[in-house]
Amino acid sequence: MIDTSIEYKVHDLITNRFSPREFSAKIITDKKLLAILEAGRIAPSSFNEQPWRFIVANRTDETSFERLLSCLSPKNAEWAKNAGALVLSVAKKKFDHDNSLNRHAFHDVGLAVASMVFQAMSLDIYSHQMGGFSSEKARTTFNIPDDYEPVAVVAFGYLDKEFFTDERLKQQSSSPKNRKPMNEISFANTWGNEISLEHSIKRKD
Ligand SMILES: Cc1cc2nc3c(=O)[nH]c(=O)nc-3n(C[C@H](O)[C@H](O)[C@H](O)COP(=O)(O)O)c2cc1C
Repeated sequence: MIDTSIEYKVHDLITNRFSPREFSAKIITDKKLLAILEAGRIAPSSFNEQPWRFIVANRTDETSFERLLSCLSPKNAEWAKNAGALVLSVAKKKFDHDNSLNRHAFHDVGLAVASMVFQAMSLDIYSHQMGGFSSEKARTTFNIPDDYEPVAVVAFGYLDKEFFTDERLKQQSSSPKNRKPMNEISFANTWGNEISLEHSIKRKD
């Protein structure tokens, strides 16, 4: 089932975020790109392991941008070629302290990327994450060691002007989000039990 409403007030940075395919040619300055990466660098992680690594390609550096672009699926590359920057996230699979498997490595990489996505939003820079890339090609292209796993590529960029004049695109960005309803993803006490926080707060009183 799909829910298109946003019933509870959440921050504008969150409601305004969406994943565009229409990026402008406007350059992302290195300073802004570094602020985005900084937001990822200081994210929380299990055992403070910081299992995230990032391969960063600003479009100002054509060669490195093309190298990362060439790892994307053709369908993604078609629009991602207009992004201001591409970032490949990579997870370190084992803990530094005892070399055991870090079950939360991917979780933590996603958390760092989420921090980057919202830092970018605060700078009017949108993002579009992609699983559609060749991890084998990324591994060989960037010499990624075996104990690290490529996770996703994120395209960052400003929205294209076309976005503000094309009614269809404008509508797409402002349209409500298609998401599972709250009671399908959040349970109370037991798996499958419908959540009703307002009810439980009342019960405590
Ligand atoms: C890990 C991940 C992988 C994704 N892979 C792709 C992809 O390969 N190509 C694509 O066009 N969108 C991709 N997306 C974007 C999702 O389709 C998008 O986030 C989802 O439909 C919700 O839309 P919204 O981000 O505009 O709210 C991916 C998103 C995530 C988080």
